[in-house]
Amino acid sequence: MQVLTTVAELRNWSRNRSRGLLSAGIGLVPTMGALHEGHLSLVRAARKRGDAVAASIFVNPTQFGPNEDFERYPRTFHADCALLEAEGVEAVFAPAVVEIYPAGAATFVDVEGIGSRLDGHSRPGHFRGVATVVAKLFAAAEPTRAYFGQKDAAQVAVLRRLVADLLLPVELVVCPIVREADGLAMSSRNRYLSADERAEALALSRAVRAGQNTFAAGEHDAEAIRATALRELTRSSAVRVDYVAVVDWATLEPVERVKQGHLLAVAVHVGATRLIDNCILHAEE
Ligand code: PAJ
Repeated sequence: MQVLTTVAELRNWSRNRSRGLLSAGIGLVPTMGALHEGHLSLVRAARKRGDAVAASIFVNPTQFGPNEDFERYPRTFHADCALLEAEGVEAVFAPAVVEIYPAGAATFVDVEGIGSRLDGHSRPGHFRGVATVVAKLFAAAEPTRAYFGQKDAAQVAVLRRLVADLLLPVELVVCPIVREADGLAMSSRNRYLSADERAEALALSRAVRAGQNTFAAGEHDAEAIRATALRELTRSSAVRVDYVAVVDWATLEPVERVKQGHLLAVAVHVGATRLIDNCILHAEE
C-alpha cells in the first residue's frame, strides 16, 4: 500500500492505475481516520465493485466549528494504515493541511439551502467545509466512484447536490449504517464516551427504531413519528436533543405526510459528544 501526501502523487497514482484497469475504475473512500468497521465497509464495497481503491485520511479543519473537537479529534494513523492495507486498499492519501489549503486559498463550495439544514443548521459552515474538501479530493483523485456512509445522511444529500450542480464526473455510492451489536451506530466519536454515556447513547438507535416501527405500523404523520422518536430520546436525562426530523432525503426539507424513502434523522449531545443516527423509512420490518 502506498502512502501519498501530495496532490500530484495522488493524481499520478490515479491516472497510472486507471490506464492499467481493464474494467471497473478508481474508487475513493474519503475519511478523517480513526477508522472502524463503518469505514471499512466502504472499502469493502469499493473492492467488491472491482475498483482500485484509494482512501483518504484528512481531519479537515474547515468542517469544524470554532468550539468543536478539531484539536482532540482522534488521530490513529498507523493503526488506520494497517486496517486499510489488510482490506486491500492500494493507496492512502494523507496530506498536510497546507497541501489542501495552500496559503491564499480563497475558494469554498457552498451548497445553498440544503447545506444549512439539519447538521448544517446546528453546525454553521460545517457542510461548506465538507463540500469544499470533497470537491478538492475529487479533483485530486479523479475517482470513477466515491463511497460514503448513510450514517451521515445529510452529508450524502449535500454531496449529491454538489456532484449534480458542479457536473462532476463521479458516481456516489452510499453504503448502509454499520452498528455495534447493541445498535449504536459506529462513529469515530464513540471513543469520547464514558461507560455511562455509552449506555445512554443507545437512546439514538432506539429512537430511530421506534420511529421506523411507527411508520411500518401505518403512521404517516411526520409529527407523530417525530414524537415517538423524541420520546425515546427524552427518556434519558443524559441526552440533550439537537434535532429530530423527518425530511425528504434529496432536499432535507421537512415533510408532513411521510412516504417510504423519507429520512428520519436525529442528533443529540451525550455529555460533550455530539452523535447522529438515522433511517430511511420503509414499509416492512
Ligand atoms: P468520517 O466521519 O471519517 O467518515 C468517513 C465516511 O465513513 C463517511 O462517508 C461516513 O458516512 C462513513 N461512516 C462513518 N461511520 C459509519 C457507519 N457507522 N456506517 C457506515 N458508514 C460510516 O464523513 C467524514 O469523515 C468527512 O465529513 C469527510 C466526508 C471525510 C470529509 O472530510
